[in-house]
Amino acid sequence: MGYKIVVVGATGNVGHEMLNILAEREFPVDEIAALASRKSLGTEVSFGDRTLKTTDLDTFDFTGWDMALFAVGSEATKKYAPKAAAAGCVVIDNSSLYRYDADVPLIVPEVNPQDVHGYAKKMIIANPNCSTAQMVVALKPLHDRATIKRVVVSTYQSVSGAGKEGMDELWDQTKSIYNPTDSKPATKFTKQIAFNVIPHIDVFLDSGETKEEWKMVAETKKILDPKVKVTATCVRVPVFVGHSESINIEFESPLDADEARDILRESPGIMVIDKREDGGYVTPIECVGDYATFISRIRDDSTVENGINLWCVSDNLRKGAALNAVQIAELLGREVLKKG
Ligand SMILES: NC(=O)c1ccc[n+]([C@@H]2O[C@H](COP(=O)([O-])OP(=O)(O)OC[C@H]3O[C@@H](n4cnc5c(N)ncnc54)[C@H](OP(=O)(O)O)[C@@H]3O)[C@@H](O)[C@H]2O)c1
Repeated sequence: MGYKIVVVGATGNVGHEMLNILAEREFPVDEIAALASRKSLGTEVSFGDRTLKTTDLDTFDFTGWDMALFAVGSEATKKYAPKAAAAGCVVIDNSSLYRYDADVPLIVPEVNPQDVHGYAKKMIIANPNCSTAQMVVALKPLHDRATIKRVVVSTYQSVSGAGKEGMDELWDQTKSIYNPTDSKPATKFTKQIAFNVIPHIDVFLDSGETKEEWKMVAETKKILDPKVKVTATCVRVPVFVGHSESINIEFESPLDADEARDILRESPGIMVIDKREDGGYVTPIECVGDYATFISRIRDDSTVENGINLWCVSDNLRKGAALNAVQIAELLGREVLKKG
């Protein structure tokens, strides 16, 4: 016997990938429902070799369904996730709404799978921000070996992190550069994104940091270790899919680049591509559609006692969202619900 699964936001970037990944990984599905807003009623979406018609989230009854994978943004999540949870359907949520709730576990299965049992308090499990997910996969095995003191991270985040509208804006603006009569002013982003980079993701906070930067700090502490210090600069770049991060890590005890490389090579979810030659590293285009978090450019930082630098790239729609959500569903199935 398998699971009755609901994918909420099935017409969106993340929902589309969730359906693909459930099919690819042969998740034991007995029945599946694809939900979106009323305007998408009847829209066809693919699930493996099947075609599903989306139904309206607003009128859906979650009673009798095992898990609902939500990818609809905080506002719709606030309205509908409690309804699903009250009906006994465990919510795995991609929005930021529940990530900082002490009664909701925030999980990256390679890092803190043990927290899954906390789902029972609210029947909700949160999925982290895309930039945090790939970073903690890289940090965890190094933290276990040498205890991380401080992390300085700069991100290079693709436009798909801002949903379908973000991808459309980059596409339309890029075309309009060659056809100036068809100008496409910035609407989703705060400045032109085509042929540009924007050091601003999510809203500004009183501290001067952005909410995206704050999320990376708060979520790393919740998932990995509250004692780890993190400072982040988050930047939007004109790449369609794949987030990149330059990460500087300082440890309590000695750990050099060679040992870090050996540890990372053996760690779950990680693929090390690190040749010190032209092209011997991974760029976002190469990670699209892949499950792994790729690590390149591992090198010592000679300006601190125990420090390294590395380059970390992953498909933000997969490890940063849909894959992690499906991995959580697999974990919940294996550890708690035990069907399939
Ligand atoms: N993209 C990433 O890298 C990433 C990473 C981590 C987390 N997330 C989070 O995942 C969520 C979805 O992101 P996305 O990139 O997939 O966005 P998206 O491409 O804009 O898709 C949004 C989806 O939500 C549905 N939706 C929105 N409001 C709804 C409502 N009131 N009722 C029913 N359905 C509604 C849309 O349905 P219609 O098509 O019918 O409008 C669509 O299916 C967001 O919370 C985002 O922050 C995204």
